[in-house]
Amino acid sequence: MNKTYKYGKYGMVGLSKPMIELYDTIYKVACTDATVLIRGERGTGKELVAKAIHKTSKRSNKPYVIVNCAAIPKDLLESELFGHEKGSFTNAYQRRLGKFETANSGTLFLDEIADLSPELQPKILRAIEYKSFERIGGNEMIHSDVRVIAATSKDLEKLVEEDKFRPELYDRLNVIPIYIPPLRDRKDDIPLLIEYFMKALGSSKKIKGDVLKQFLLYDWPGNVRELKCVVERLVIMSEGDEITLYDVEKYWKKCDYTCDNSTHTNHLEDEMKCMFLPQTIAKIANCKLESILKIGRKKWPEIKYYVSGDGLHLIHIDDAIEFFKATDKPEMAERLRRYREEI
Ligand SMILES: Nc1ncnc2c1ncn2[C@@H]1O[C@H](COP(=O)(O)OP(=O)(O)OP(=O)(O)O)[C@@H](O)[C@H]1O
Ligand SMILES: [Mg+2]
Repeated sequence: MNKTYKYGKYGMVGLSKPMIELYDTIYKVACTDATVLIRGERGTGKELVAKAIHKTSKRSNKPYVIVNCAAIPKDLLESELFGHEKGSFTNAYQRRLGKFETANSGTLFLDEIADLSPELQPKILRAIEYKSFERIGGNEMIHSDVRVIAATSKDLEKLVEEDKFRPELYDRLNVIPIYIPPLRDRKDDIPLLIEYFMKALGSSKKIKGDVLKQFLLYDWPGNVRELKCVVERLVIMSEGDEITLYDVEKYWKKCDYTCDNSTHTNHLEDEMKCMFLPQTIAKIANCKLESILKIGRKKWPEIKYYVSGDGLHLIHIDDAIEFFKATDKPEMAERLRRYREEI
């Protein structure tokens, strides 16, 4: 196993503090067989995390089986999970293996676990606990060595309180809880995600700085999935080689309600005031542009809001100050610091 979790590994992008912590957790839990419960709002990447755990684990060459507990009708789910014997119910024309069996020696990802019916919950608990179960209509105990990862965006604790989810199953699943924070709490990742999705779409369009600002001010209730879809829409719909505020207003229309008065937004607006193009930083510090560009190369990924290559570079003034402090031109750091006080 390799600990170097580079940007883009298993399709996971993000270098914000919570994402780095998440990569560490994935690495730690991947080495074990413990049951994992992944939590997070819709579109935060729960399915990606489940796959990353499997791919990083020693089971990576074994089956990875997904069951979406919300997508399969209740009366079919039991057979889907545990299989059935021929003739065990109408239409059971032949024996069928369930997912607990086909996932043997690999990983079983139980997505949307909160939607499990109360009848199935104890059966799943037993299958996880004893690593064995019976097919429907069968009387033979089937042993299957399965590592279970579950996920939900629902409030499981509340469902337990309301007697809709068995506390024993909750405890069994929740051995290693993993929480993926919403995108609004890790907005530093937005430029990197945009760049990644644009590349994946094969687009070389540029994003104007004021568009990026709109993206950073918006709270993304649909999280990364919503961002991905908006980027795709803008790439397709915009004309020319730049995505402008005009395109955003025409094809996205979200910017009308992005500027609420919450302290969070104000904080972000303050932050945005400290973001500068490298050219501007060079001007304030009265130095050559090249020495500023070096920050990007040397200190990335620490630098916030950075879109690389032919895209947009934005450098946080604090990073520039730190950079100059470490050079033989500390007076530049002082000049920037004074400028920072003024803004
Ligand atoms: N960190 C990330 N880097 C790149 N793409 C991501 C990231 N997180 C999520 N995505 C993308 O966003 C979309 C939604 O991700 P995923 O299906 O894993 O979310 P989810 O939490 O399972 O959502 P839901 O609760 O709606 O099922 C996918 O297209 C996925 O590839
Ligand atoms: Mg999902």
